[in-house]
Amino acid sequence: MKAPALRVDGLRKEFGGLVAVKDVSFDVQEGEFIGLIGPNGCGKSTTFNCISGLLEQTEGKVEVFGTDVSMMRPDQIQNLGMTRTFQHTRLWREMTVIENLLVPPRNQFSPSFLDVVRSGRSHPAEVNRLDRAFEVLDQLEVPHMAHNLASELSGGQSKLVDIGRSMMGDPRLLLLDEPVAGVAGPLAMKIFSNLRNIVSETGISVLIIEHNMDFILRQGVDRIVVMNEGEILMVGTPDEVRSNREVIEAYLGSDGQVGGAEN
Ligand SMILES: Nc1ncnc2c1ncn2[C@@H]1O[C@H](COP(=O)(O)OP(=O)(O)O)[C@@H](O)[C@H]1O
Ligand SMILES: [Mg+2]
Repeated sequence: MKAPALRVDGLRKEFGGLVAVKDVSFDVQEGEFIGLIGPNGCGKSTTFNCISGLLEQTEGKVEVFGTDVSMMRPDQIQNLGMTRTFQHTRLWREMTVIENLLVPPRNQFSPSFLDVVRSGRSHPAEVNRLDRAFEVLDQLEVPHMAHNLASELSGGQSKLVDIGRSMMGDPRLLLLDEPVAGVAGPLAMKIFSNLRNIVSETGISVLIIEHNMDFILRQGVDRIVVMNEGEILMVGTPDEVRSNREVIEAYLGSDGQVGGAEN
């Protein structure tokens, strides 16, 4: 059987006496679009940090496309085809959107970027990168933003550019940490529908952190991993999550509205 894009097995992370992640296990198949949801502080970003090699897990194993990455550095994991974004977006404010896309992501500041600067982008490989950058903006349906300064963008537009930047290396597995937090409803929905299309058209896998249950249930993800207090409450399709009592009890307010435990 083909290895999944991502397998997390018995992941545990302690910070001193605090157990932030407890026995977390789930997988992401190739071509799957999966949401990771749970209230603030429940261990979502810590899970990402362990998967991407920024934090060493206390226990457990992480495999990316069948390779055990538990002892690997972030750049080595990235070379397997996995890219992640961070909860707090940092763009180069004095650069244009297209220039931001040409800057490699953190932990990947390669000599080729210096080549871009020195050569004025005349190198064929860099011309390809420029083509790719415009293609990414097309995929995200924002080609008109190419020459705007990052400092002119709204918070939501900055998040989009950050997603675009993570797509520049043609990842086969994309981990996005709350890409629509603080983004206005219509743009947030557009970001999700674009991601849905990208997954369906290219067959890459996307794992996306979100803290609003009501929102994620309506965004066309294939499955949802529900976390609470460091543990997995359930993994299932949106329909299964909707009908699971335990989950509903964790999220249902007294007014009967399913909503994020935190917004
Ligand atoms: N580097 C760290 N050092 C100590 N505690 C941390 C660190 N990172 C996260 N935590 C704690 O771990 C818990 C989970 O945090 P986090 O994974 O950021 O939650 P989420 O992303 O779901 O909001 C929280 O109690 C947080 O304060
Ligand atoms: Mg977080």
